Amino acid sequence: MRQTLPIAAAAAALLTACTANPDGAAQPQAEAAADVYYLRAGMVEQINPPMEAMWNMQVEVMDDYGNFDPALMTPQTWSELQAHARGLIAAAERMATAGSYVAADPDGPYADAPEGTDLAAIQMRLDANGAAYRALSQNMARHAAQLVEAAEAQDAATVTQLVNDMQPQCKACHDVFWYPEEYAQ
Ligand code: HEC
Repeated sequence: MRQTLPIAAAAAALLTACTANPDGAAQPQAEAAADVYYLRAGMVEQINPPMEAMWNMQVEVMDDYGNFDPALMTPQTWSELQAHARGLIAAAERMATAGSYVAADPDGPYADAPEGTDLAAIQMRLDANGAAYRALSQNMARHAAQLVEAAEAQDAATVTQLVNDMQPQCKACHDVFWYPEEYAQ
């Protein structure tokens, strides 16, 4: 019964996603059936890079309070921010619309996970809770879409808020699918 709480949390996320977006992105069933998402590769190559780029930008253009400072933003940095946020939407949507999830491609470069990442355990959670994984991915895609809008409007305050709130989006899924043993006690 160690996983009772994480599964409940995942179910709650799923429920939120369904009610928040009743007519949300329809799954392209036909292509999706065979469409495997290798999640470790996705994290390393697609999800993490645009997010890290935005966090790095935040350091470069922040004011004394850690907020994006419009005075330090230029047309160039606004457009870079928009591009990173769009990259994150694409990465999250790719993850949300995959047909099935595999923790790591056994023949690919990410088969050897770092210490503390138990790919077999992650795979079991993915097999048991694929719908929750999809819902959490969709939540992140929607959050990234709001960020693109704010970046297009050059609304630094909203951008700050949405960039700061992105990390809990990452954590929500990591808590359930990556290291739920922290909840064991
Ligand atoms: C829908 C689920 C989900 C979301 C959302 C998610 N992740 Fe992950 N992520 C995982 C899982 C599961 C792992 C553990 C497997 C692995 O290591 O790739 C992981 C692992 C990682 C890793 C370690 C990769 C490695 O070396 O093994 C990084 C870095 C990472 N995520 C970054 C992020 C960032 C940044 C975000 C938010 C912008 C994010 N993730 C959002 C599921 C998610």
